[in-house]
Amino acid sequence: MVVIRGATTIPCDNKEEVQKAVSELMEAIENHNNMKSSEVLSIVFSSTSDIHSYYPAKAAREAGYVSCSLFSAVEPEIVGGLPLCIRVMLFTEKDLVPKHVYLRGARVLRRDLGKFNVAIDGPAGSGKSTVARRLADDYHILYLDTGAMYRAVALQAIEAGVNVEDEAAIADLMRDVKLDVRYENGVQRTLLGERDVSEDIRKPPVSMAASSVSKYASVRMKLVEKQREIASRMSCVLDGRDIGTFVLPEADFKFYLTASPEVRARRRYDELVAKGHTVDFEALRDEIVKRDEQDMNRKIAPLKQAEDAVLVDTSEMTIEEVVAAVKKRMQEKI
Ligand code: DC
Repeated sequence: MVVIRGATTIPCDNKEEVQKAVSELMEAIENHNNMKSSEVLSIVFSSTSDIHSYYPAKAAREAGYVSCSLFSAVEPEIVGGLPLCIRVMLFTEKDLVPKHVYLRGARVLRRDLGKFNVAIDGPAGSGKSTVARRLADDYHILYLDTGAMYRAVALQAIEAGVNVEDEAAIADLMRDVKLDVRYENGVQRTLLGERDVSEDIRKPPVSMAASSVSKYASVRMKLVEKQREIASRMSCVLDGRDIGTFVLPEADFKFYLTASPEVRARRRYDELVAKGHTVDFEALRDEIVKRDEQDMNRKIAPLKQAEDAVLVDTSEMTIEEVVAAVKKRMQEKI
């Protein structure tokens, strides 16, 4: 007996969507495995608990699976799980090597069956890193924080007493920079040589300096090469300023997150205060505006929305709402 597995998602819960998705999934399983519906012994469906409108098993019966046994089960709710998802296990006695099929939003469940990248760009405090981390956790893929790399270069410059406005001096410094990112239990650690600088790069003076060094070709080319290399090897969510426009113009999913400067400054302020830093709100807001200007107006790969990126204004949204909106768009696109 051979078991073929598969899954798909529906954009919203109604009978027509369930019927369409089930037909599509079953047809794809047959095509990929070169088999006919009459060769199927039984099919077990399970759908997430947010699907009430129709049983996938009924849809399969209507789609021509008339002689096999069919079951539909409802899965218990899993926090952070893929919503509106229909999974299937199909049993056959045909002699074949099963090809499992994951369609639409369910592609994210099996990164081994199809690599994909998500690009999230936007200004500081727009919620990029929180959303990127959540997506990476939920889809079990890597999160690459590209800003951390620019921050590490800035930290090295500050500690070496190099003026971040001196392009030639920064180019010199780049020749010796030993920047690396590693993952510990799925969490990115940023290293300068053997030193873990993940905490130090978050200190307030580093932000503006990171924006300054990111203007230079000598810095960008080296870091972008590293980012592309990581993204070419595995599915990942990358956040930054130029991911959708420059680093990965062919990314499968692109989002541009934004929010008013007031809201973004408030988020950063709360974050820094929670970490024990003393911060002046007005000064922080001014710095954010200045950093936006610098990031948006530099010559190489400036911060801007890619033409094919989905714009999400997060000013009035909770993080849960942003994550849900982003996931919904991903499912609709597949
Ligand atoms: O996202 P962040 O605040 O950690 O980024 C710090 C700076 O690094 C940002 O002001 C501009 C630069 N940066 C960039 O130029 N390109 C990226 N992909 C990411 C960050």
